Amino acid sequence: MSQFQQKVDVVRSERITEDVVRLTFNASKIASMARPGQFVMAQTSSAKDPLLRRPFSIHQVTSEGYLQILFKVLGRGTELLAQVRVGEQVSLLGPLGNGFTLGLPEAACLVGGGMGIAPMLFLATRFLQKSSKDSVSLMMPTVILGARNRAELEPLVQDFQKLGVKVLAATDDGSFGHHGLVTDVLKKLNLSPLASVYCCGPHPMMAAIARLCQQEQRACQVSVETVMACGMGACLGCAVPLKAGGYAHVCSDGPIFEAERLLWSL
Ligand SMILES: Cc1cc2nc3c(=O)[nH]c(=O)nc-3n(C[C@H](O)[C@H](O)[C@H](O)COP(=O)(O)OP(=O)(O)OC[C@H]3O[C@@H](n4cnc5c(N)ncnc54)[C@H](O)[C@@H]3O)c2cc1C
Ligand code: FES
Repeated sequence: MSQFQQKVDVVRSERITEDVVRLTFNASKIASMARPGQFVMAQTSSAKDPLLRRPFSIHQVTSEGYLQILFKVLGRGTELLAQVRVGEQVSLLGPLGNGFTLGLPEAACLVGGGMGIAPMLFLATRFLQKSSKDSVSLMMPTVILGARNRAELEPLVQDFQKLGVKVLAATDDGSFGHHGLVTDVLKKLNLSPLASVYCCGPHPMMAAIARLCQQEQRACQVSVETVMACGMGACLGCAVPLKAGGYAHVCSDGPIFEAERLLWSL
């Protein structure tokens, strides 16, 4: 699989909320090879602090060679990245890891929580492209998105709506969509037994969805996040335990895993 290290131009910087930022890069090589669920490692500083690149899911790519990431400011790396201006350059390494395996669009349920929404836009786009290629009428995946409140969620929901996808929303404070968890919405959906779930979000959310899918004997792919140093299988710092024993490395074996392969701690 081809990977590139590219210094790319920042062509757009958007503040979604005070601490959530979306950057658009002109990154044609990485964009042309990217699959939903893969990630890039971004250098957040040209100085030595932070020394290590930071991993971000590929949020969207376009046929014109643009690539987006969507991130929350947590610490020094994301703080510096949030300050990058249009016209400046960022070094990206990618696309890295294994992406989602796409099944039938009409039997796909995409669930994103918090910044776990990031890879879902690219995934929804690819499902729609697959649908328009394979069938006469456009088959839409079901999308469930959750966040803390309306301010965080509404702008992201609108991006999916622009694709023509209907979104079921859930917020912790009830200010937008269902008052509660994305898992409540998923349970009430009455999905076809053949539907597969594609999920990314906080660990407790993914553990709950993995459990639910296991009870229903439903296929479920999850996008796992760990702290990463190299992103390429060299440092062994991103290990997660497997149900069958042993460990997998999120950067090289994942970040997408079949949920039933992992040993869930919750
Ligand atoms: C494959 C992958 C894809 C990711 N995609 C996205 C994305 O699309 N959007 C996004 O906002 N974030 C994403 N992340 C998380 C993102 O990489 C971290 O938030 C970022 O590295 C933090 O860097 P920092 O220097 O700002 O914070 P640091 O100073 O490195 O850390 C600040 C705090 O956050 C904690 N932290 C750092 N990384 C993680 C993590 N992965 N999980 C939980 N806690 C963490 C640290 O322990 C520390 O307490 C992804 C992570 C992985 C592994
Ligand atoms: S981050 Fe180094 S092996 Fe995965």
